[in-house]
Amino acid sequence: MKMEKTSMPIVFVCLFSLILLSLESCSCTASKPVPALYIFGDSNVDAGNNNKLKTMFKANVPPYGIDFPGGLSASGGRASNGMTYVDFFAKWLGLQLPPAVNNVDLNTVETIDGFNYASASAGILEDSRFNDNENIYLGKQVSMFNDTVEKYLTKRFKDKAELSNYLSKSIFVISIGGNDFIFNLNMKMGEKTPSPDQISQFSEKLLKLLGEYIKELYQLGARKFLINEIGAGGCAPQLYLMKKQQPGGCDLETNKEVVSYNEKLVPEIKKWESTFQGSSFVHMKMFDIANDFVVNPTHYGFTDSRHACCQLTEHNRCDANKGPCKDRSKYVYFDAAHLTEAAHKVLATKCFSEKGVCVPMNLQELAQK
Ligand SMILES: *[C@@H]1O[C@H](CO)[C@@H](O)[C@H](O)[C@H]1NC(C)=O
Repeated sequence: MKMEKTSMPIVFVCLFSLILLSLESCSCTASKPVPALYIFGDSNVDAGNNNKLKTMFKANVPPYGIDFPGGLSASGGRASNGMTYVDFFAKWLGLQLPPAVNNVDLNTVETIDGFNYASASAGILEDSRFNDNENIYLGKQVSMFNDTVEKYLTKRFKDKAELSNYLSKSIFVISIGGNDFIFNLNMKMGEKTPSPDQISQFSEKLLKLLGEYIKELYQLGARKFLINEIGAGGCAPQLYLMKKQQPGGCDLETNKEVVSYNEKLVPEIKKWESTFQGSSFVHMKMFDIANDFVVNPTHYGFTDSRHACCQLTEHNRCDANKGPCKDRSKYVYFDAAHLTEAAHKVLATKCFSEKGVCVPMNLQELAQK
């Protein structure tokens, strides 16, 4: 009896000091395997950076965000009914969902879990745009991150070494390139389709620039990269409905361009990894799986991969005045070009903890590197 009486407080004190210890180590960002997630790209991962720009490529109206925790106002402008694959990454890494950097006041916000710089309709090239719709191209996104480092992050670390350590453990996701074909190469060609040589040269030009932007991020301290290839845009309802049934269920002309770029991306990633000392690259193979969503929807629990879940306007956006489909988890596409949260979650799961979609390692493995 006596033993029990004394052991209780001892256990309690031990527990208490353990909690204190862990609280102490939690204030040090180095305790998390991945302290932050920084997102660059286009509408697949945009969290609302276009809201204040002059553009029709915004998703800050209903029914976008309908299934996002906290609804549309919390979703901010994601082109889906809920979370995107990068949001799932953040959640599973124990991080806040990276907010759109344009929608936060850096004087009052207090997060070092990362920001999102992605912009719907943007490309790697500055002149990839649809008519006069504004966007933030990749080069500008990277220079905005440079600003974040100088004006925001620097103040939050004791010294340069701590900041470098934090940046080197953070993951930098880049998901861009599709709009360069749609809103640049193809638009400039008008009715003509580009030749294989033109596609090849254009892909090389894009990848050279992408390499320069990755170098800038590296010089700023980034070491862990996840580079997404271009998804199967030719399988999206936008093109499928326009061109009707095609072999394999997708628009092969569009996908041919994407495949050319994606094939050239593989050796580039190897080159970047060997050029940038201490860097690690994960290649996210979005194309095959997005294509498979459309061809074998039931394999993933979907019943409709041909139609947008929401009702479309003439510009292929969701109509704000009409409700979306009832069972969003059964659709691959939410609008004419963007995946539902359910499809994003499948992608995220496969990249985060499985093999095949993210190579040569999944995100969990990259986190431990
Ligand atoms: C970051 O911005 C500064 C100017 O504020 C510039 O001198 C520097 O070259 C930039 N760094 C990179 C890696 O682009």
